[in-house]
Amino acid sequence: MTTPRPVLVVDFGAQYAQLIARRVREADVYSEIVPHTMPVSEMLARDPVALILSGGPSSVYDDGAPQVDPALFEAGVPTFGICYGFQAMARALGGEVARTGLREFGGTPLRVSGDRGVLLRDLPAAPSVWMSHGDAVSTAPDGFTVTASSPGAPVAAFEAPERGFAGVQFHPEVAHTPNGQDVLRRFLYDIAKAEPTWNTGNIIDDQVAVIRERVGDAQVLCALSGGVDSAVAAALVHRAIGDQLTCVFVDHGLLRAGEAEQVEKDYVSATGIRLKVVDAEDRFLGALKDVSDPEQKRKIIGREFIRVFEEAAREVDAERHIEFLVQGTLYPDVVESGGGTGTANIKSHHNVGGLPDDLKFQLVEPLRTLFKDEVRALGAALGLPEEIVMRHPFPGPGLAIRIIGAVDRERLDVLRAADKIAREELTAAGLDRDVWQFPVVLLADVRSVGVQGDGRTYGHPVVLRPVSSDDAMTADWSRLPYDVIARISTRITNEVSEVNRVVLDVTSKPPGTIEWE
Ligand code: XMP
Repeated sequence: MTTPRPVLVVDFGAQYAQLIARRVREADVYSEIVPHTMPVSEMLARDPVALILSGGPSSVYDDGAPQVDPALFEAGVPTFGICYGFQAMARALGGEVARTGLREFGGTPLRVSGDRGVLLRDLPAAPSVWMSHGDAVSTAPDGFTVTASSPGAPVAAFEAPERGFAGVQFHPEVAHTPNGQDVLRRFLYDIAKAEPTWNTGNIIDDQVAVIRERVGDAQVLCALSGGVDSAVAAALVHRAIGDQLTCVFVDHGLLRAGEAEQVEKDYVSATGIRLKVVDAEDRFLGALKDVSDPEQKRKIIGREFIRVFEEAAREVDAERHIEFLVQGTLYPDVVESGGGTGTANIKSHHNVGGLPDDLKFQLVEPLRTLFKDEVRALGAALGLPEEIVMRHPFPGPGLAIRIIGAVDRERLDVLRAADKIAREELTAAGLDRDVWQFPVVLLADVRSVGVQGDGRTYGHPVVLRPVSSDDAMTADWSRLPYDVIARISTRITNEVSEVNRVVLDVTSKPPGTIEWE
């Protein structure tokens, strides 16, 4: 593997570890996340450029608080401590952490010392930083220079750059610390002497080499879902091995307006990939007939998908013996399922691991080290259509779980028409990147009275569910401008005759989920 030497983000249980790793990569330096329980010898065996100790929920005084093995600081690897990692570092190197019992939380003014040192060199004298801590470092270890303080932290930043050590009490990785990325860059480039070589061009070159080496002249199969990950994974594999790749697209009839065509036409003409399209709409709709229960719908769709894909895979295999299967597994899936060991658990029916034994292929997962934003950048660099690369997340079971009630072709057409209008207006307002996802939901089993012209109507409501989120684990309803919502509402009720009411979902997650189902 030609993956570069990593900066290892040692995860002390903060929700921020993935964010730190992403920020390091935004500074063009490769990074990986490792659990704090990993033995130091194992971390060193990865030949890291540097270590970053993340924040964590504990106090260093808590029973069972994760400790830092002092051997970590004796290996000559540059190390940056953040929040909990900063305090753990201070203690391990002979400084003092005071149990203040006070909490400092949120945007906080930082007082930066006169000469700023190396780490804070780019900062103004009184920047605002994001704090979230109880205890505070009261005395820096010997040989460290204190470069900042805050009302709740007498030592808010310290450094010993010649030894490769630095730390901050605040969170440089969050957007609420406006100069945070500058701090991280100074650590990476000036203290750890990391080279900014992690960029889209190099990622493509590396992966192409890896895939060629692994696959040789064998034949490869990939299932396209219409989503970003499988589209980029396939394009990357195609760049590496060209015609040895065959893609299969199962059109289950549950995609949004225009999406199947985008895969079949725009994607194929952008990449030149050989694509086998299976039109399975009748089969899926037949299996879903009269089913209202969402779990039941998911099961049916998952089952049918495996069956249809299996048939297609057998046909391709009979033509050209297939040895490898491409999957669009991303780095967050890998981290969440155990930090890079073992195979990721892939959500929903895209997990084609359910194939029978005589169709077991070896997996190729070219996006396994990448975050979503890197995958999008890669897709753009590979020349994929913007509509595919920038597509919002979309559930595997598709519009079936956005119809509350049983699914049939008429209902799907109604929802597709309403959804298309919502998407068009969001795009026209230039707001695509301001929302994470914008489900439109058809309450197919509900009717209410309306009036149109002189006539009474008895139509269905649709729900608009635009949300803002970073990772879909939590979300808030998007405050879209009223005039955009008004345009969507007017157009839907004018243009989609079955719908006479448009409502806006103003629930965060939790307690609501993003999808209605
Ligand atoms: P919820 O509704 O649980 O959704 O807040 C969280 C995220 O997951 C997506 N989602 C799915 N994705 N298969 C998928 O691939 C599914 O069955 C599925 N269900 C929900 C949802 O769109 C949101 O992004």
